[in-house]
Amino acid sequence: MDKKLLISSETIKKRVNELATQISLDYEGRNPVLIGVLKGVVFFLADLARELNIPVEIDFVRAASYGAGTTSSRNVRLTKDIENSVHGKPVILVEDIVDTGLTLTHIIQEIEKKGPESVKICALIEKLEIEDIKIPIDYCGFRIKEGFIIGYGLDFDEKYRNLPDLYVLR
Ligand code: PRP
Repeated sequence: MDKKLLISSETIKKRVNELATQISLDYEGRNPVLIGVLKGVVFFLADLARELNIPVEIDFVRAASYGAGTTSSRNVRLTKDIENSVHGKPVILVEDIVDTGLTLTHIIQEIEKKGPESVKICALIEKLEIEDIKIPIDYCGFRIKEGFIIGYGLDFDEKYRNLPDLYVLR
């Protein structure tokens, strides 16, 4: 597989630390629930959580999207729900990549039903090429215009998730 280095692990680490500093400041004195969207988020969530200076809970959801073609013909459903209660608590949804925003839009709706105090979004990467749905991202690591991105949790056909850097496939 021909791949080109996009963002090095050093740059990722620096940016993750910046995001963690901002979140720690914004949530000072509070205990947010970090909800990671499996599976791509695992390394980002692990690195981010360990740089926070505030107590957090950690939970996960898994979403499956089915139906190919245009964004509007895709459906998203949760195949794994959270296990902790988020009622009355601040929630930070953590994603590796937001492309169309369809996955997160559905997850936000499901989490909102559980009565959280607030829901904010933290994403490592926002893809800029598709402008179908999109949702505002409160904490964004990198905005990337094009290419199929792999590494640091992101896969191509379930491979390359364990690469420490981010690459674009050529
Ligand atoms: C990826 C990514 C997001 C979603 C973004 O997950 O982790 O959850 O796609 O796409 P969208 O904004 O267009 O909805 P994927 O379904 O590839 O699962 P994975 O994290 O297990 O690789």
